[in-house]
Amino acid sequence: MTTEEAAVKAPRTSLHGQWSSRMAFVLAVTGSAVGLGNIWKFPYIAGQNGGGAFVIVYLFCVFLIGMPVMMSEILIGRRGRRNPVATMALLGEEEGSSKHWRLVGSMSVIGGILILSYYSVIAGWTVAYVEKSVTGSFVGRSPAEIASIFGTFTGNWVSVAVAHTIFMAINILVVARGVERGLEQAVKFMVPALLVLMLVLLGYAINSGHFAEGLAFMLTPNFDALTWDSVLVAMGQAFFTLSIGMGAVMAYGAYLPAETSITNASAAVVVADTMIALLAGLVIFPLVFANDLNPADGPGLVFVTLPLAFGQMSGGVVFATLFFVLLTFAAWTSAIGLMEPAVAWVVERFHRSRAQAALMIGGLIWALGFGTVLSFNVLAETRFFKGTIFDNIDHLTSNIMLPLGGVFITVFASWVMCRNSSAEELGGAGTVYSIWRFLARYLAPLAIIFVFLKAVGLLPEFSGA
Ligand code: TRP
Repeated sequence: MTTEEAAVKAPRTSLHGQWSSRMAFVLAVTGSAVGLGNIWKFPYIAGQNGGGAFVIVYLFCVFLIGMPVMMSEILIGRRGRRNPVATMALLGEEEGSSKHWRLVGSMSVIGGILILSYYSVIAGWTVAYVEKSVTGSFVGRSPAEIASIFGTFTGNWVSVAVAHTIFMAINILVVARGVERGLEQAVKFMVPALLVLMLVLLGYAINSGHFAEGLAFMLTPNFDALTWDSVLVAMGQAFFTLSIGMGAVMAYGAYLPAETSITNASAAVVVADTMIALLAGLVIFPLVFANDLNPADGPGLVFVTLPLAFGQMSGGVVFATLFFVLLTFAAWTSAIGLMEPAVAWVVERFHRSRAQAALMIGGLIWALGFGTVLSFNVLAETRFFKGTIFDNIDHLTSNIMLPLGGVFITVFASWVMCRNSSAEELGGAGTVYSIWRFLARYLAPLAIIFVFLKAVGLLPEFSGA
Protein backbone atom coordinates (compact mmCIF):
# COMPACT_ATOMS: atom_id res chain seq x y z
CA MET A 1 0.00 0.00 0.00
CA THR A 2 1.45 3.40 -0.90
CA THR A 3 1.32 6.14 1.67
CA GLU A 4 -1.34 7.83 -0.41
CA GLU A 5 -3.54 4.77 -0.31
CA ALA A 6 -2.91 4.46 3.39
CA ALA A 7 -4.06 8.03 3.92
CA VAL A 8 -7.26 7.30 2.08
CA LYS A 9 -7.90 4.09 4.00
CA ALA A 10 -7.17 5.53 7.43
CA PRO A 11 -10.32 6.39 9.39
CA ARG A 12 -10.99 10.02 8.72
CA THR A 13 -11.94 12.33 11.51
CA SER A 14 -13.26 15.83 11.44
CA LEU A 15 -11.42 18.85 12.78
CA HIS A 16 -14.55 20.19 14.41
CA GLY A 17 -15.40 17.23 16.63
CA GLN A 18 -18.18 14.66 16.34
CA TRP A 19 -21.78 14.34 17.39
CA SER A 20 -21.98 12.70 20.80
CA SER A 21 -24.62 10.24 19.62
CA ARG A 22 -26.82 9.24 16.71
CA MET A 23 -29.69 11.05 18.37
CA ALA A 24 -27.65 14.21 18.54
CA PHE A 25 -27.12 14.12 14.79
CA VAL A 26 -30.79 13.51 14.04
CA LEU A 27 -31.70 16.32 16.39
CA ALA A 28 -29.22 18.70 14.84
CA VAL A 29 -30.33 18.00 11.28
CA THR A 30 -33.97 18.18 12.39
CA GLY A 31 -33.18 21.44 14.12
CA SER A 32 -31.71 22.82 10.93
CA ALA A 33 -34.63 21.53 8.88
CA VAL A 34 -37.43 22.69 11.16
CA GLY A 35 -37.55 26.43 11.13
CA LEU A 36 -39.18 29.41 9.51
CA GLY A 37 -39.48 27.31 6.37
CA ASN A 38 -42.09 25.11 8.01
CA ILE A 39 -44.07 27.61 10.01
CA TRP A 40 -43.64 30.92 8.23
CA LYS A 41 -42.88 30.03 4.63
CA PHE A 42 -44.80 26.85 3.90
CA PRO A 43 -48.26 28.24 4.83
CA TYR A 44 -47.81 31.50 2.97
CA ILE A 45 -46.49 30.03 -0.26
CA ALA A 46 -49.08 27.25 -0.13
CA GLY A 47 -51.63 30.05 0.22
CA GLN A 48 -50.19 32.02 -2.68
CA ASN A 49 -50.14 28.96 -4.90
CA GLY A 50 -53.70 27.83 -4.36
CA GLY A 51 -53.36 25.23 -1.59
CA GLY A 52 -54.17 21.55 -2.26
CA ALA A 53 -52.42 20.80 -5.54
CA PHE A 54 -49.37 22.72 -4.41
CA VAL A 55 -49.21 20.76 -1.16
CA ILE A 56 -49.38 17.46 -3.01
CA VAL A 57 -46.60 18.41 -5.40
CA TYR A 58 -44.59 19.56 -2.40
CA LEU A 59 -45.07 16.21 -0.66
CA PHE A 60 -44.00 14.31 -3.78
CA CYS A 61 -40.90 16.46 -4.02
CA VAL A 62 -40.06 15.93 -0.36
CA PHE A 63 -40.20 12.15 -0.52
CA LEU A 64 -39.06 11.35 -4.07
CA ILE A 65 -36.48 14.09 -4.55
CA GLY A 66 -35.73 15.44 -1.07
CA MET A 67 -35.11 12.15 0.62
CA PRO A 68 -32.54 10.81 -1.91
CA VAL A 69 -30.82 14.20 -2.03
CA MET A 70 -30.54 14.25 1.73
CA MET A 71 -29.07 10.74 1.82
CA SER A 72 -26.60 11.67 -0.91
CA GLU A 73 -25.54 14.77 0.96
CA ILE A 74 -24.96 12.99 4.23
CA LEU A 75 -23.06 10.15 2.65
CA ILE A 76 -20.78 12.53 0.79
CA GLY A 77 -20.25 14.53 3.95
CA ARG A 78 -19.36 11.56 6.08
CA ARG A 79 -17.02 10.13 3.47
CA GLY A 80 -15.13 13.40 3.11
CA ARG A 81 -15.25 14.56 6.73
CA ARG A 82 -14.29 18.12 5.79
CA ASN A 83 -16.10 21.32 4.98
CA PRO A 84 -18.24 20.98 1.83
CA VAL A 85 -15.68 22.67 -0.43
CA ALA A 86 -12.79 20.47 0.69
CA THR A 87 -14.96 17.36 0.79
CA MET A 88 -16.14 17.75 -2.79
CA ALA A 89 -12.58 18.43 -3.96
CA LEU A 90 -11.19 15.45 -2.07
CA LEU A 91 -13.86 12.97 -3.12
CA GLY A 92 -13.83 14.28 -6.68
CA GLU A 93 -10.17 13.32 -6.95
CA GLU A 94 -10.48 10.16 -4.91
CA GLU A 95 -13.27 8.86 -7.12
CA GLY A 96 -11.17 9.52 -10.19
CA SER A 97 -13.16 12.51 -11.39
CA SER A 98 -11.97 16.06 -10.75
CA LYS A 99 -11.22 18.32 -7.85
CA HIS A 100 -13.34 20.97 -9.56
CA TRP A 101 -16.32 19.39 -7.85
CA ARG A 102 -15.28 21.78 -5.10
CA LEU A 103 -17.33 24.39 -6.98
CA VAL A 104 -20.42 22.54 -5.80
CA GLY A 105 -19.10 22.94 -2.29
CA SER A 106 -18.59 26.66 -2.89
CA MET A 107 -22.25 26.96 -3.71
CA SER A 108 -22.98 25.89 -0.17
CA VAL A 109 -20.89 28.67 1.26
CA ILE A 110 -22.56 31.26 -0.96
CA GLY A 111 -26.03 29.75 -0.62
CA GLY A 112 -25.87 29.72 3.16
CA ILE A 113 -24.77 33.34 3.28
CA LEU A 114 -27.49 34.48 0.88
CA ILE A 115 -30.29 32.53 2.56
CA LEU A 116 -29.30 33.63 6.02
CA SER A 117 -29.20 37.27 4.92
CA TYR A 118 -32.98 37.23 4.61
CA TYR A 119 -33.71 34.43 7.04
CA SER A 120 -32.18 36.46 9.85
CA VAL A 121 -34.48 39.37 9.09
CA ILE A 122 -37.61 37.24 9.33
CA ALA A 123 -36.19 35.62 12.46
CA GLY A 124 -35.83 39.17 13.74
CA TRP A 125 -39.59 39.60 13.24
CA THR A 126 -40.19 36.63 15.51
CA VAL A 127 -37.86 38.11 18.12
CA ALA A 128 -39.82 41.35 17.99
CA TYR A 129 -43.06 39.39 18.25
CA VAL A 130 -41.86 37.84 21.50
CA GLU A 131 -41.80 41.33 22.93
CA LYS A 132 -45.24 42.16 21.52
CA SER A 133 -46.62 38.93 22.97
CA VAL A 134 -45.28 39.50 26.46
CA THR A 135 -46.70 43.00 26.60
CA GLY A 136 -50.14 41.75 25.55
CA SER A 137 -50.26 43.70 22.27
CA PHE A 138 -52.59 41.17 20.65
CA VAL A 139 -55.20 40.80 23.37
CA GLY A 140 -58.72 41.37 22.06
CA ARG A 141 -57.55 42.97 18.80
CA SER A 142 -59.53 42.87 15.57
CA PRO A 143 -58.09 41.42 12.35
CA ALA A 144 -57.53 44.94 11.02
CA GLU A 145 -55.68 45.99 14.16
CA ILE A 146 -53.45 42.92 14.11
CA ALA A 147 -52.66 43.51 10.45
CA SER A 148 -51.77 47.08 11.22
CA ILE A 149 -49.43 46.02 14.05
CA PHE A 150 -47.58 43.92 11.49
CA GLY A 151 -47.60 46.66 8.86
CA THR A 152 -46.39 49.32 11.27
CA PHE A 153 -43.60 47.12 12.56
CA THR A 154 -42.24 45.98 9.20
CA GLY A 155 -42.80 49.44 7.78
CA ASN A 156 -40.25 50.88 10.18
CA TRP A 157 -36.84 49.81 8.90
CA VAL A 158 -35.03 50.79 12.09
CA SER A 159 -36.97 48.40 14.33
CA VAL A 160 -36.60 45.62 11.77
CA ALA A 161 -32.86 46.31 11.56
CA VAL A 162 -32.51 46.21 15.34
CA ALA A 163 -34.29 42.85 15.55
CA HIS A 164 -32.16 41.47 12.69
CA THR A 165 -29.04 42.63 14.51
CA ILE A 166 -30.06 40.95 17.77
CA PHE A 167 -30.76 37.71 15.98
CA MET A 168 -27.45 37.70 14.09
CA ALA A 169 -25.59 38.45 17.30
CA ILE A 170 -26.91 35.44 19.22
CA ASN A 171 -26.26 33.38 16.16
CA ILE A 172 -22.62 34.36 15.90
CA LEU A 173 -22.22 33.57 19.59
CA VAL A 174 -23.42 29.98 19.26
CA VAL A 175 -21.54 29.26 16.06
CA ALA A 176 -18.38 30.65 17.61
CA ARG A 177 -18.63 28.09 20.43
CA GLY A 178 -18.43 25.08 18.13
CA VAL A 179 -20.36 22.04 17.14
CA GLU A 180 -21.03 20.09 20.29
CA ARG A 181 -21.38 22.68 22.97
CA GLY A 182 -23.35 25.06 20.80
CA LEU A 183 -25.58 23.10 18.48
CA GLU A 184 -26.70 20.11 20.46
CA GLN A 185 -27.84 21.97 23.52
CA ALA A 186 -30.01 24.32 21.54
CA VAL A 187 -31.81 21.62 19.61
CA LYS A 188 -32.51 19.07 22.30
CA PHE A 189 -35.63 20.55 23.74
CA MET A 190 -36.71 22.89 20.97
CA VAL A 191 -38.14 20.43 18.46
CA PRO A 192 -40.28 18.45 20.95
CA ALA A 193 -41.50 21.65 22.61
CA LEU A 194 -42.46 23.15 19.28
CA LEU A 195 -44.35 20.01 18.36
CA VAL A 196 -46.36 20.11 21.59
CA LEU A 197 -47.24 23.76 21.16
CA MET A 198 -48.33 23.17 17.57
CA LEU A 199 -50.67 20.46 18.84
CA VAL A 200 -52.18 22.91 21.33
CA LEU A 201 -52.74 25.36 18.48
CA LEU A 202 -54.23 22.58 16.39
CA GLY A 203 -56.79 22.03 19.12
CA TYR A 204 -57.67 25.69 18.94
CA ALA A 205 -57.91 25.61 15.14
CA ILE A 206 -60.20 22.58 15.27
CA ASN A 207 -62.53 24.56 17.50
CA SER A 208 -62.38 27.68 15.34
CA GLY A 209 -65.46 26.56 13.44
CA HIS A 210 -63.60 26.73 10.11
CA PHE A 211 -61.41 23.68 10.38
CA ALA A 212 -63.11 21.84 7.53
CA GLU A 213 -62.65 24.84 5.28
CA GLY A 214 -58.97 25.11 6.14
CA LEU A 215 -58.48 21.40 5.64
CA ALA A 216 -60.23 21.49 2.29
CA PHE A 217 -58.10 24.41 1.12
CA MET A 218 -54.95 22.59 2.05
CA LEU A 219 -55.77 19.13 0.80
CA THR A 220 -58.27 19.40 -2.06
CA PRO A 221 -56.20 19.51 -5.21
CA ASN A 222 -57.21 21.78 -8.04
CA PHE A 223 -54.60 20.94 -10.61
CA ASP A 224 -56.05 23.35 -13.15
CA ALA A 225 -54.84 26.23 -11.05
CA LEU A 226 -51.33 24.85 -10.76
CA THR A 227 -48.74 26.52 -12.99
CA TRP A 228 -45.23 25.23 -13.67
CA ASP A 229 -44.00 28.19 -11.73
CA SER A 230 -45.94 26.90 -8.71
CA VAL A 231 -44.41 23.47 -9.23
CA LEU A 232 -40.97 25.08 -9.18
CA VAL A 233 -41.86 26.91 -5.96
CA ALA A 234 -43.11 23.65 -4.40
CA MET A 235 -39.90 21.88 -5.37
CA GLY A 236 -37.81 24.79 -4.09
CA GLN A 237 -39.70 24.63 -0.83
CA ALA A 238 -38.97 20.90 -0.49
CA PHE A 239 -35.27 21.73 -0.70
CA PHE A 240 -35.50 24.74 1.53
CA THR A 241 -37.48 23.09 4.29
CA LEU A 242 -35.17 20.06 4.42
CA SER A 243 -32.05 22.27 4.36
CA ILE A 244 -30.75 20.35 1.38
CA GLY A 245 -29.14 21.25 -1.93
CA MET A 246 -26.46 23.52 -0.56
CA GLY A 247 -24.21 21.25 1.46
CA ALA A 248 -25.42 22.24 4.93
CA VAL A 249 -26.42 18.68 5.67
CA MET A 250 -23.15 17.63 4.05
CA ALA A 251 -21.30 19.74 6.60
CA TYR A 252 -23.28 18.09 9.41
CA GLY A 253 -22.65 14.64 7.91
CA ALA A 254 -18.93 15.27 8.30
CA TYR A 255 -19.41 14.98 12.05
CA LEU A 256 -21.47 11.78 11.89
CA PRO A 257 -20.08 8.60 13.50
CA ALA A 258 -19.35 5.83 11.01
CA GLU A 259 -21.84 3.33 12.39
CA THR A 260 -24.97 5.49 12.15
CA SER A 261 -27.55 4.53 9.51
CA ILE A 262 -27.87 7.39 7.06
CA THR A 263 -31.16 6.05 5.72
CA ASN A 264 -32.85 5.91 9.12
CA ALA A 265 -31.51 9.27 10.17
CA SER A 266 -32.74 10.87 6.91
CA ALA A 267 -36.16 9.27 7.21
CA ALA A 268 -36.54 10.55 10.77
CA VAL A 269 -35.66 14.07 9.73
CA VAL A 270 -37.89 14.10 6.66
CA VAL A 271 -40.90 12.79 8.59
CA ALA A 272 -40.48 15.19 11.50
CA ASP A 273 -40.01 18.17 9.19
CA THR A 274 -43.03 17.31 7.06
CA MET A 275 -45.23 16.80 10.10
CA ILE A 276 -44.42 20.23 11.45
CA ALA A 277 -45.06 21.93 8.12
CA LEU A 278 -48.41 20.18 7.66
CA LEU A 279 -49.34 20.98 11.25
CA ALA A 280 -48.56 24.63 10.64
CA GLY A 281 -50.86 24.59 7.63
CA LEU A 282 -53.63 22.85 9.56
CA VAL A 283 -53.39 25.52 12.25
CA ILE A 284 -53.13 28.54 10.00
CA PHE A 285 -55.67 27.96 7.23
CA PRO A 286 -58.68 27.44 9.49
CA LEU A 287 -57.74 30.69 11.23
CA VAL A 288 -57.41 32.45 7.90
CA PHE A 289 -60.98 31.51 6.99
CA ALA A 290 -62.35 32.08 10.48
CA ASN A 291 -61.14 35.67 10.30
CA ASP A 292 -61.95 36.39 6.67
CA LEU A 293 -58.31 36.80 5.77
CA ASN A 294 -56.74 36.12 2.40
CA PRO A 295 -54.61 32.92 2.24
CA ALA A 296 -52.55 34.51 -0.53
CA ASP A 297 -51.48 37.46 1.60
CA GLY A 298 -47.79 36.61 1.60
CA PRO A 299 -44.98 36.76 4.16
CA GLY A 300 -47.11 38.35 6.87
CA LEU A 301 -49.57 35.43 7.01
CA VAL A 302 -48.32 33.73 10.19
CA PHE A 303 -47.61 37.05 11.85
CA VAL A 304 -51.25 38.00 11.46
CA THR A 305 -53.24 34.76 11.85
CA LEU A 306 -51.54 33.43 14.95
CA PRO A 307 -51.51 36.69 16.96
CA LEU A 308 -55.22 36.99 16.16
CA ALA A 309 -55.86 33.56 17.60
CA PHE A 310 -53.65 34.22 20.61
CA GLY A 311 -55.47 37.49 21.20
CA GLN A 312 -58.77 35.68 21.48
CA MET A 313 -57.91 32.57 23.47
CA SER A 314 -57.65 32.38 27.23
CA GLY A 315 -54.05 32.22 28.35
CA GLY A 316 -53.21 33.76 25.00
CA VAL A 317 -50.41 35.93 26.34
CA VAL A 318 -48.57 32.89 27.66
CA PHE A 319 -49.16 30.82 24.54
CA ALA A 320 -48.16 33.66 22.24
CA THR A 321 -44.95 34.27 24.13
CA LEU A 322 -44.14 30.59 24.22
CA PHE A 323 -44.85 30.24 20.53
CA PHE A 324 -42.68 33.09 19.35
CA VAL A 325 -39.88 32.08 21.71
CA LEU A 326 -39.97 28.58 20.25
CA LEU A 327 -40.14 29.89 16.70
CA THR A 328 -37.10 32.03 17.44
CA PHE A 329 -35.32 28.92 18.68
CA ALA A 330 -36.38 26.98 15.61
CA ALA A 331 -35.04 29.77 13.40
CA TRP A 332 -31.90 29.91 15.43
CA THR A 333 -31.04 26.22 15.05
CA SER A 334 -31.59 26.62 11.29
CA ALA A 335 -29.48 29.75 11.13
CA ILE A 336 -26.63 27.89 12.78
CA GLY A 337 -26.86 25.31 10.00
CA LEU A 338 -26.84 28.01 7.37
CA MET A 339 -23.65 29.50 8.74
CA GLU A 340 -21.81 26.25 9.33
CA PRO A 341 -20.51 25.59 5.78
CA ALA A 342 -19.07 29.08 5.42
CA VAL A 343 -17.59 29.08 8.91
CA ALA A 344 -16.06 25.60 8.58
CA TRP A 345 -14.62 26.69 5.24
CA VAL A 346 -13.01 29.85 6.62
CA VAL A 347 -11.59 27.91 9.58
CA GLU A 348 -9.95 25.30 7.36
CA ARG A 349 -9.01 27.43 4.39
CA PHE A 350 -7.68 30.49 6.20
CA HIS A 351 -6.71 28.87 9.50
CA ARG A 352 -8.88 31.15 11.57
CA SER A 353 -10.40 30.33 14.94
CA ARG A 354 -14.10 29.47 14.92
CA ALA A 355 -14.81 32.70 16.74
CA GLN A 356 -13.03 34.80 14.13
CA ALA A 357 -14.68 32.94 11.29
CA ALA A 358 -18.12 33.30 12.86
CA LEU A 359 -17.60 37.02 13.26
CA MET A 360 -16.39 37.54 9.70
CA ILE A 361 -19.12 35.49 8.06
CA GLY A 362 -21.78 36.74 10.47
CA GLY A 363 -20.81 40.35 9.82
CA LEU A 364 -21.05 39.85 6.07
CA ILE A 365 -24.48 38.24 6.39
CA TRP A 366 -25.65 41.00 8.70
CA ALA A 367 -24.69 43.64 6.14
CA LEU A 368 -26.33 41.78 3.25
CA GLY A 369 -29.44 41.49 5.41
CA PHE A 370 -30.19 45.13 4.85
CA GLY A 371 -31.38 44.28 1.37
CA THR A 372 -34.25 42.41 3.01
CA VAL A 373 -34.69 44.82 5.92
CA LEU A 374 -35.46 47.56 3.39
CA SER A 375 -37.62 45.34 1.14
CA PHE A 376 -40.61 45.80 3.44
CA ASN A 377 -40.41 49.57 3.81
CA VAL A 378 -38.04 52.03 2.11
CA LEU A 379 -37.49 49.82 -0.95
CA ALA A 380 -40.88 48.09 -0.95
CA GLU A 381 -41.75 49.64 -4.30
CA THR A 382 -38.38 48.92 -5.87
CA ARG A 383 -39.38 45.87 -7.84
CA PHE A 384 -37.57 43.94 -10.54
CA PHE A 385 -37.78 40.42 -11.96
CA LYS A 386 -39.55 38.54 -9.12
CA GLY A 387 -40.36 41.55 -6.93
CA THR A 388 -38.44 43.13 -4.08
CA ILE A 389 -34.82 42.40 -3.17
CA PHE A 390 -36.17 39.87 -0.65
CA ASP A 391 -38.30 38.15 -3.30
CA ASN A 392 -35.33 37.88 -5.62
CA ILE A 393 -32.87 36.50 -3.07
CA ASP A 394 -35.53 34.02 -2.00
CA HIS A 395 -36.24 32.95 -5.58
CA LEU A 396 -32.57 32.71 -6.53
CA THR A 397 -31.68 30.58 -3.52
CA SER A 398 -34.73 28.33 -2.92
CA ASN A 399 -35.92 27.84 -6.45
CA ILE A 400 -32.67 27.90 -8.40
CA MET A 401 -29.54 27.35 -6.32
CA LEU A 402 -30.87 24.61 -4.04
CA PRO A 403 -32.46 22.42 -6.72
CA LEU A 404 -29.41 22.91 -8.95
CA GLY A 405 -27.22 21.91 -6.02
CA GLY A 406 -29.48 18.87 -5.67
CA VAL A 407 -28.73 17.83 -9.26
CA PHE A 408 -24.98 18.03 -8.69
CA ILE A 409 -25.14 16.28 -5.34
CA THR A 410 -27.21 13.32 -6.55
CA VAL A 411 -25.20 13.01 -9.75
CA PHE A 412 -21.99 13.04 -7.75
CA ALA A 413 -23.14 10.49 -5.19
CA SER A 414 -24.70 8.09 -7.69
CA TRP A 415 -22.73 8.51 -10.93
CA VAL A 416 -19.29 9.80 -9.93
CA MET A 417 -18.78 7.89 -6.70
CA CYS A 418 -18.25 4.21 -7.29
CA ARG A 419 -20.80 1.69 -6.10
CA ASN A 420 -18.52 0.45 -3.35
CA SER A 421 -18.10 3.86 -1.80
CA SER A 422 -21.76 4.74 -1.68
CA ALA A 423 -22.86 1.25 -0.65
CA GLU A 424 -20.36 1.31 2.17
CA GLU A 425 -21.81 4.53 3.51
CA LEU A 426 -25.40 3.38 3.08
CA GLY A 427 -24.87 0.11 4.91
CA GLY A 428 -24.52 -2.34 2.03
CA ALA A 429 -26.21 -2.99 -1.30
CA GLY A 430 -29.72 -4.10 -0.34
CA THR A 431 -33.15 -3.08 -1.55
CA VAL A 432 -33.03 0.30 0.13
CA TYR A 433 -29.70 0.95 -1.53
CA SER A 434 -31.14 0.09 -4.95
CA ILE A 435 -34.10 2.37 -4.45
CA TRP A 436 -31.83 5.20 -3.37
CA ARG A 437 -29.58 4.62 -6.34
CA PHE A 438 -32.44 4.68 -8.80
CA LEU A 439 -33.92 7.86 -7.34
CA ALA A 440 -30.52 9.57 -7.11
CA ARG A 441 -29.31 8.51 -10.56
CA TYR A 442 -32.43 9.10 -12.58
CA LEU A 443 -35.55 10.40 -10.95
CA ALA A 444 -34.24 13.27 -8.85
CA PRO A 445 -31.88 14.95 -11.33
CA LEU A 446 -34.19 14.47 -14.31
CA ALA A 447 -37.26 15.68 -12.43
CA ILE A 448 -35.44 18.78 -11.23
CA ILE A 449 -34.18 19.64 -14.70
CA PHE A 450 -37.60 18.99 -16.17
CA VAL A 451 -39.30 21.35 -13.72
CA PHE A 452 -36.67 24.02 -14.39
CA LEU A 453 -37.20 23.81 -18.12
CA LYS A 454 -40.97 23.83 -17.73
CA ALA A 455 -40.91 26.82 -15.39
CA VAL A 456 -38.91 28.94 -17.83
CA GLY A 457 -41.10 27.74 -20.68
CA LEU A 458 -38.36 25.91 -22.57
CA LEU A 459 -40.36 22.73 -22.98
CA PRO A 460 -43.41 22.59 -25.20
CA GLU A 461 -46.85 21.95 -23.72
CA PHE A 462 -48.11 18.46 -24.20
CA SER A 463 -51.74 17.45 -24.08
CA GLY A 464 -53.14 17.02 -20.62
CA ALA A 465 -50.56 19.30 -18.97
N1 TRP B 1 -34.70 24.36 6.53
C1 TRP B 1 -34.71 25.65 7.12
C2 TRP B 1 -36.15 26.01 7.41
O1 TRP B 1 -37.04 25.33 6.97
C3 TRP B 1 -34.05 26.70 6.27
C4 TRP B 1 -32.83 26.26 5.54
C5 TRP B 1 -32.65 26.18 4.21
C6 TRP B 1 -31.64 25.79 6.06
N2 TRP B 1 -31.44 25.74 3.89
C7 TRP B 1 -30.79 25.48 5.01
C8 TRP B 1 -31.22 25.62 7.34
C9 TRP B 1 -29.54 24.99 5.23
C10 TRP B 1 -29.97 25.10 7.56
C11 TRP B 1 -29.14 24.80 6.52
O2 TRP B 1 -36.41 26.98 8.07
